[in-house]
Amino acid sequence: MGRKLIAGNWKMNLEYKESERTARDIVSKLDKKVFQNTDVLVCPSFVSLGIVSKTIKDSGIKLGAQDIYYENDGAYTGEVSASMLRSVGCEYVIAGHSERRKYIHETNKIINRKVRKAIEFGIKPILCVGESLEEREDEIYEGVVEKQIIEGLAEISKDNMKDLVIAYEPVWAIGTGLNATPKQASDMHLFIGKVISKIYDSETSNELRILYGGSVNGKNSGEILSAKGVDGALIGGASLKPDEFSEIVKIASAL
Ligand code: PGA
Repeated sequence: MGRKLIAGNWKMNLEYKESERTARDIVSKLDKKVFQNTDVLVCPSFVSLGIVSKTIKDSGIKLGAQDIYYENDGAYTGEVSASMLRSVGCEYVIAGHSERRKYIHETNKIINRKVRKAIEFGIKPILCVGESLEEREDEIYEGVVEKQIIEGLAEISKDNMKDLVIAYEPVWAIGTGLNATPKQASDMHLFIGKVISKIYDSETSNELRILYGGSVNGKNSGEILSAKGVDGALIGGASLKPDEFSEIVKIASAL
C-alpha cells in the first residue's frame, strides 16, 4: 500500500482570517511524524490560497485548489489559471467535484480539459467521480462512474497517470452524514481499479491512489480508511474542524 492522502476540501467556507486560523490550528496539531507515511492536503477557497500557503509553509501540509480553468490566460473573467495556482504554491487541484457538476453544470468534457491543463502545469489533479442516490437505487452506478472516468481521463497518457488521484464520492454521501459502508467503498474502489486496468494496465491501476469522500469524520474514518482499495479520504465538513481533521490524519498515519 502506498502513502495515504488525507485531503480537506473547505468548499465555500471560511473567510480570509478564518482560513489562516484554521490552517494554523491544523499545523499546530500535527506531529511531523505523520508526514512520514501520509500526505496531508488542504484546499481553501481561491481568496485564501495565499495566506494558507504562507501559514503551512515548511509544515509538511500541502496546498490544493478547488477548481482550475482550462485556458492558459487571457479574457476569461472570474477564472483562475493553472500558472496562477502554481505560483501560489498549489500542488493539487480538485477537478469535477459533484457540486460543480450539479450547480455549475460541468460536464465530463470540461472536467477532462481541466485535468489535462493541471497535468500540463505540473499540478496533480484529484478527479472526483460518483453516482447520485437515484443512480445507486437504479443499480446503474458502476456504468455512471465508468463513463465519468473514461471521459474524464480522455487523452491522458499512462505516464501522466502517476500524479493523478481519483476520489470516489457518492453524491448521496456528501454532506449528508450518511457515509458509504466500508464494503460499498471498497467494492467501488476495486471496480475503479478494474476500469483503470482496462484503459491503461494493471501497473497503472495498482499505483493509482483512490480516495473515498462523503461524510468522513473522526468516528468513521478508521474503518473507511482500513477498507481494501481505499488510499485516503477527501473530507468536507470535518476538514473545517482542526481537532477532527488532525485526528483523522493521525488515524490514517497509524494504520
Ligand atoms: P463531506 O464532503 O465530507 O462534507 O461529506 C466531502 C466532499 O464533498 O468532498
